[in-house]
Amino acid sequence: MGADVSHRDALRVGVIGLGTIGRTHLAALRQAGIAELAGADPSPLAREAARRSFGIADYSDYRRMLDDERLTAVVVATPPRTHRELALLAIERGLGVLCEKPLALTVEECEDLVAAAQQAQRPFAVGFCHRFQPQVQSMRAMLLRGDLGAPILFHAAFVHGLTETDRSWLKDPAQAGGGVLVDSGSHAIDLFRYIIGEVHDVRGLTDLGFLDPGTVENSCVAVLRSGAVVGGIELSWRAPPWEGCVEVVGDGGRARVDYDGQSAQLHVRAQGAGWQQIPTDTTDRFAAQVAHFLACLRGDAAPLATAADGLEATRTWLRLYAQLDDPAGPAEEGNAS
Ligand SMILES: NC(=O)c1ccc[n+]([C@@H]2O[C@H](COP(=O)([O-])OP(=O)(O)OC[C@H]3O[C@@H](n4cnc5c(N)ncnc54)[C@H](O)[C@@H]3O)[C@@H](O)[C@H]2O)c1
Repeated sequence: MGADVSHRDALRVGVIGLGTIGRTHLAALRQAGIAELAGADPSPLAREAARRSFGIADYSDYRRMLDDERLTAVVVATPPRTHRELALLAIERGLGVLCEKPLALTVEECEDLVAAAQQAQRPFAVGFCHRFQPQVQSMRAMLLRGDLGAPILFHAAFVHGLTETDRSWLKDPAQAGGGVLVDSGSHAIDLFRYIIGEVHDVRGLTDLGFLDPGTVENSCVAVLRSGAVVGGIELSWRAPPWEGCVEVVGDGGRARVDYDGQSAQLHVRAQGAGWQQIPTDTTDRFAAQVAHFLACLRGDAAPLATAADGLEATRTWLRLYAQLDDPAGPAEEGNAS
């Protein structure tokens, strides 16, 4: 990687897609002191909202932004179907990339990005922002230190309501790749990999039973296995408000992160004591993610969530969909109804 930016150089970041998460990234970039910001979105409403809140230069066509602005990096914050094309173009232009999850919609698309990221001049990171949640970081550090003993069980639940943000592409499998399993499940699968390890086995059920072409699941329960550790993930976007939980049970203790909207608490029970709330850093995960990405651009850090991590998350939810689509598959064993 030969194009680190000197600490004295100003970083210039363009955000492609100025919707819900694009504007979250703009806020985090501003908070991190990045003055040189631009944005691109074909939607006049999205551009107007970004201009009003952040006073950025805005473009209806991302190619013009890449031509006109001397950018160091881009954030790809568009619907998943577009990620491969946009991220590859940014890499070709020599830019650093923070690409939102899911990295892309097929193993082949993800592999293209993994290969391009390996040759890229600047860092390539995937927006698995929950890795940056301070309580998740603390829980993982406790597990790595041995404070919880050897891990036995994992649990993650993300529950929210689509009515909170009505993004029509989310229910279009051609744009989104699937339903809640792709949307929130990408994070849950990534957390399992980040905290426990590689996924060796996966099984699941959705509210739809089998997936009919053109429909997507609203709720999903899946189990993952890594070695001897099994984990359950529960997802729904039919029940606002946004809440989440990530939990590890070890043979020497337990730790649980409870999310309530954007805030979270870490509780731990270890060494024979009762549950205790552990004080943690309260930095917002998007701010922490952007700060880390900027450190990567300056050559002070390496991406915590790489294109290879994006590939493995996509591979896992695709395995789950393949198993759901196969009536002879393991999901149907013992189903008497
Ligand atoms: N990390 C997280 O917690 C998190 C949360 C929400 C969304 N996301 C991810 O972020 C991405 C965007 O989601 P969102 O909720 O912001 O969606 P959104 O619909 O609110 O915004 C997407 C924007 O992209 C624009 N767009 C579409 N094609 C474009 C193109 N070719 N060039 C420029 N702009 C284009 C749309 O006009 C829209 O304004 C998705 O991949 C989603 O999964 C991640």
